Amino acid sequence: RQNERESLLIVLNFAKTFFQEALQKSDEGRGIGLSYFRERGFTNPTIEAFELGYSFDQWDALMQEGLRKGYNRDLLEKAGLILVKEGADGRSPKTFDRFRGRVMFPIHNVSGRVIAFGARILKTDKSQPKYLNSPETTVYHKSQVLYGIYQAKQTVRQEDVCYLTEGYTDVISLHQAGIKNVVASSGTSLTTEQIRLIARFTPNITILYDGDAAGIKAALRGLDMVLEEGLNLKLLLLPNGEDPDSYVHKVGAEEFKAYIKANSKDFIDFKAGQWLAEAGNDPNKRAEGISDVCASITKIPDPLKRQTLSQRVAQVFHVSEQSVISEINRLLRKQQ
Ligand code: UTP
Ligand code: MN
Ligand code: MN
Ligand code: MN
Ligand code: MN
Repeated sequence: RQNERESLLIVLNFAKTFFQEALQKSDEGRGIGLSYFRERGFTNPTIEAFELGYSFDQWDALMQEGLRKGYNRDLLEKAGLILVKEGADGRSPKTFDRFRGRVMFPIHNVSGRVIAFGARILKTDKSQPKYLNSPETTVYHKSQVLYGIYQAKQTVRQEDVCYLTEGYTDVISLHQAGIKNVVASSGTSLTTEQIRLIARFTPNITILYDGDAAGIKAALRGLDMVLEEGLNLKLLLLPNGEDPDSYVHKVGAEEFKAYIKANSKDFIDFKAGQWLAEAGNDPNKRAEGISDVCASITKIPDPLKRQTLSQRVAQVFHVSEQSVISEINRLLRKQQ
């Protein structure tokens, strides 16, 4: 219902402001949260642009302030801000804040309204998840949301390309470095809805994932989905052990941009690179690689694009174009 949606957005905005004031104005927030952001190199304008905050390390600081302001428990719960634990043996239920003692990353919708939060733990504690995220609510469907889209959309249009990263801090650090056309899928594997959200602003996506096994795997999974939506795709892995956040802090904005320019690959080169590195001279492995690249080509809706790409595959793997085309056709028939 429209009314419930609006009420949720209002209480989420209240929470955002509460977390911002905790970060900026309290001793605890400044001592712990703000100094954490400083250590990560986030400047004040960045903290402001992403409306970053801090949640007190107390059981129900947000809830108490919310109740005082006139938001009821039911609304706070529906917004994902508090948790209600049923009391045993007729005792009254216990309610407490979901986010406690964490730095807060508000998640905005395309129009800039806060719909959820990501919350990072400050010290490494293996018994706790590094990031805690809002649950699904009436206003937050994580499969439909991209972190940073509100801050990125104008530049995505201007530059006519959107960089897709894995995490909150990747978006923030690149934005701070002047690369503002960046979003993150944030903990979910990429969805078709997220790709369509980007397609509202540009047909060009560059996947910029962490340079580790998980990053490669996620990139390969996202690749076919982007092609299926008929979008143009480039891919780029960060050096092993780096993510966009760590790498841009290490080398600076200019060298980061140069790295993107020098290393962005189209999906054929990206996949072929992975396969050829593994296959060496093994003809079976090479054939498997060709078939795998062809499988991705079958995802592309436009037959003309498929045609021109088969020429590229033939060149990259040193085989005849005809053999590539017949493999693509074989796979297409199999899919019917
Ligand atoms: P990463 O583990 O790469 O974290 O997860 P990160 O973004 O580099 O974070 P920092 O630099 O350590 O602070 C990528 C993204 O996956 C989601 C978050 O959105 C994170 O940004 N994630 C990760 C979770 O939702 N929960 C987790 O426990 C870990
Ligand atoms: Mn839903
Ligand atoms: Mn990672
Ligand atoms: Mn990362
Ligand atoms: Mn990181």
